[in-house]
Amino acid sequence: MSFSKFVSLVLIFHLLTPALVFSSSLSSSNGLSGIPKKFLDFAKRKEFVDWIVGVRRKIHENPELGYEEFETSKLIRSELDKLGIPYKYPVSVTGVVGFVGTGGPPFVALRADMDALPIQEEGDWEHRSKIPGKMHACGHDAHVSMTLGAAKILKEHVQEINGTVVLVFQPAEEGGGGAKKMVDEGVLDNVDAIFGLHVTHEDAIGTVASKSGPIFAGSGFFTAVISGRGGHAALPQHSIDPILAASNIIVSLQHLVSREADPFDSQVVTVGKFQGGSAFNVIPDSATIGGTFRAFLKTSLIQLKQRIEEVIKGQAAVLRCNATIDFHDKPVPLFPPTVNDNDLHEHFLEVAGDMLGNDKVKDLKPLMGSEDFAFYQEAIPGYIYLIGMQDESSPKLGAVHTPQFTINEDVLPYGAALQASLATTHLLKAELKPRSTEGHTHDEL
Ligand SMILES: *[C@@H]1O[C@H](CO)[C@@H](O)[C@H](O)[C@H]1NC(C)=O
Ligand SMILES: *[C@@H]1O[C@H](CO)[C@@H](O)[C@H](O)[C@H]1NC(C)=O
Ligand SMILES: [Zn+2]
Ligand SMILES: [Zn+2]
Repeated sequence: MSFSKFVSLVLIFHLLTPALVFSSSLSSSNGLSGIPKKFLDFAKRKEFVDWIVGVRRKIHENPELGYEEFETSKLIRSELDKLGIPYKYPVSVTGVVGFVGTGGPPFVALRADMDALPIQEEGDWEHRSKIPGKMHACGHDAHVSMTLGAAKILKEHVQEINGTVVLVFQPAEEGGGGAKKMVDEGVLDNVDAIFGLHVTHEDAIGTVASKSGPIFAGSGFFTAVISGRGGHAALPQHSIDPILAASNIIVSLQHLVSREADPFDSQVVTVGKFQGGSAFNVIPDSATIGGTFRAFLKTSLIQLKQRIEEVIKGQAAVLRCNATIDFHDKPVPLFPPTVNDNDLHEHFLEVAGDMLGNDKVKDLKPLMGSEDFAFYQEAIPGYIYLIGMQDESSPKLGAVHTPQFTINEDVLPYGAALQASLATTHLLKAELKPRSTEGHTHDEL
């Protein structure tokens, strides 16, 4: 898309007539024109609920891993076709990018991730995963359905959309960095803001939670092979023991956070994998360790990465071993921290508060988990929030990334209505204030 000339025309128009636009476009006192409540009412109609639940169940039955979401992508395109919404495909292998509205600026984006996890579903119900060993255990089936739901609401109210809502269906959120690929393919060019959401079993249905600033940590992964020289376990003097070297490495890695990081700058280093040897009485040739590191500041993440490499090489050398390290950062680099834009946070508080009630909009404590939504936020201002699913009168829902994970389908209309409202009212507000076309550079922390 290349609409920069249009953008400046619109900008000039608004500079000249701010008062006129203000009085003509916004009737209700809070500036939201009654949109959030109206959209939620629409999404709670039986016909809408039946449709969105049906879509979610179809996706849930056929989970596909990152960059393999071919059937999911096909289903999305077929629903967009039925709604009469144009789209681009393929973007980043399986991705789909739809457009609702005037087709012109301003642009605001909604994001859905499409991939499932290599987990065997435990629950036994009619629409359980039909694919052995794969499951939508992170709720991305719900995210896709809610975004299609938002598309349906937007299409139904298209005369109220002054600008264009870009629907971003991305592949491979779970470690594949699908968001990075989408950004590299230009899906956010000329887009002012992007909204994302994630279901959570930790909060009640009808509530949402988020915060301004850093919300999820940045993350990296490493695998190290420590090589020595194998031999008889009773004659260590003839061997170079990689098991002992790897043990020292693991202990030393734990000193990075405890001795080198600022205690107020949250960081994690975890070694989750240690493989080496297969007999009581044999010193093996090599041992392999693997782990992850997390931080809320990009500088801290880069510092951790450098020190992890130095500690592994240095400690291997102490015991005469060699080490090779793979940070798995090609082609997808380290996941940056997820940092919510402050203006979008204010917008979210207003819209979600209007729709759900201010007491249903909670403050979220930052989490050390990471989200590839961060790649969008490196390109433009972005905002992600959690949407609650727990029905207080029902048993506790299973947690994400477990075989017991379950979606409370009552969440679907909320997510659809909220995403549609955030986008529509953001476009309404964009009419009121001159847009900064240089505003796309985003300070890294
Ligand atoms: C859309 O924007 C144009 C120009 O900014 C304005 O003239 C028009 O009234 C707006 N329409 C709506 C539905 O807000
Ligand atoms: C470590 O690497 C050096 C240089 O390649 C090599 O000479 C040495 O044998 C290696 N040591 C081990 C224990 O693999
Ligand atoms: Zn996940
Ligand atoms: Zn997820």
